[in-house]
Amino acid sequence: MSDSELILFSISSITAFLLIFIFIKTKQYSNFNLPPGNMGWPFLGETLGYLKPYSATTLGKFMQEHIERYGKIYKSNLFGEPTIVSADPGLNRFILQNEGKFFECSYPRSIGGILGKWSMLVLVGDMHRDMRVISLNFLSHARLRTHLFSEVEKHTLLVLNSWKENSTFSAQDEAKKFTFNLMAKHIMSMDPGKHETEQLKKEYVTFMKGVISPPLNLPGTAYRRALKSRSSILKFIECKMEERMRKMIEGNENFGEEDLLNWVLKHSNLTTEQILDLILSLLFAGHETSSVAIALAIYFLPGCPLAIQELQDEHIEIARAKKKSGEIELTWDDYKRMEFTQCVINETLRLGNVVRFLHRKAIKDVHFQGYDIPCGWKVLPVIAAGHLDPLRFDQPQHFDPWRWQTNGSRGPSSNCASVTTNDNNFMPFGGGPRLCSGSELAKLEMAIFIHHLILNFHWEIADADQAFAHPYVEFPKGLPIRVQRHSLL
Ligand code: HEM
Repeated sequence: MSDSELILFSISSITAFLLIFIFIKTKQYSNFNLPPGNMGWPFLGETLGYLKPYSATTLGKFMQEHIERYGKIYKSNLFGEPTIVSADPGLNRFILQNEGKFFECSYPRSIGGILGKWSMLVLVGDMHRDMRVISLNFLSHARLRTHLFSEVEKHTLLVLNSWKENSTFSAQDEAKKFTFNLMAKHIMSMDPGKHETEQLKKEYVTFMKGVISPPLNLPGTAYRRALKSRSSILKFIECKMEERMRKMIEGNENFGEEDLLNWVLKHSNLTTEQILDLILSLLFAGHETSSVAIALAIYFLPGCPLAIQELQDEHIEIARAKKKSGEIELTWDDYKRMEFTQCVINETLRLGNVVRFLHRKAIKDVHFQGYDIPCGWKVLPVIAAGHLDPLRFDQPQHFDPWRWQTNGSRGPSSNCASVTTNDNNFMPFGGGPRLCSGSELAKLEMAIFIHHLILNFHWEIADADQAFAHPYVEFPKGLPIRVQRHSLL
């Protein structure tokens, strides 16, 4: 066979194979009433269009066009699998509430490769439940009040006090510094600024670049570098573990601080490998998300001077009352009085959509609103869709913290009634049995950061930047801000 005949033969064989594949797939689901949609190219499907970056305060062109053409529930082929995409809050709630019954968490294999097979994000069933109990214990309400609260304030001040008058820097990096330091302290009692903490932070940055890059394990790729960083981070955590275990064997009851590592060693039967993946995944879950949320608040607020004014009023009142009573550190009661701040936090999470969609798969054939979702299909609940739906949130692109007040009043003079989060389209932390274990900590971090930021700084965006969804949310320029100190007391 000549070269040209060989090429022709290969092309026809591949085409025939693809046609047979499509035929079998079509036949297989001919009895199902699938939602409308486009399966795109074989294997690749519509993945590239779906993942194309777009402004984080929108649903993006791909999603918008698909919803207009097919409705809020449509079929596609994404991440190499036949998929049902849901921008329908009702179906999204149904999916999340029925975890383990009709649906199951199903992140792409590459995520498991990098976060580890024991990571909470990829585990399902009993093992997920056991890990979840540990994370809930670590982040319980009681622990938040007794341990984390004062640390959150301490780490906030550490970052804010390093800001120089009239200086310009990346707000995104500063927010990351804050949440990383806090997590490193609470997971492994590591202190900010120390050589080992800075080393770990450096490895972690490389690691993160791989989590969000194409999973190509080839020389020179970000994914390959991230796998290497993963090994270094795990080695580091393992050393810490061995150190703690040595102290434990030596009978030193107080062998370390009350951090997650100690808790797991004392109270769980997890293997070393499981502990390593748990710690890495908590570091990831607790650091990346809340830092983006803080950066988003810093980004949205200068565009809404009335909200800044109302925040100032709220925090000045709290700070003045403290001064009068001679208290210095914030207390839980002070936090509970930050009602308008909670509105700002909700609105930031609604409009910024830190986590835009989740990965699930159907583990049974499911019938919903006349459509079938076949067992084994990937299912993507797009939680951002409910947040940006004009039928549910008036002028959804508008940053309007007052929409969260139960009395619906607007502006700084309004009497801030209690804050409503009852809108069940509002799901920034997911829902059901996998609801974010760190949601309360995340809101606490945001509130305390905002308290000290508002009281001590005026800031402006130094170089136009905006949040992009890749689909992970990021400011391409790092959100450069210029700050001036002020004292409002
Ligand atoms: C604004 C900040 C945050 C947002 C928007 C957020 C969002 C989410 C979402 C949507 C999920 C569900 C994932 C799924 O169902 O597949 C989740 C899970 C999780 N988050 Fe968060 N999160 C935030 C902060 C935190 C923090 C500070 C921690 C603390 C360590 C944390 C720990 C976790 C854990 C452990 C899970 C897994 C829960 C499980 O599988 O049972 N998150 N988060």
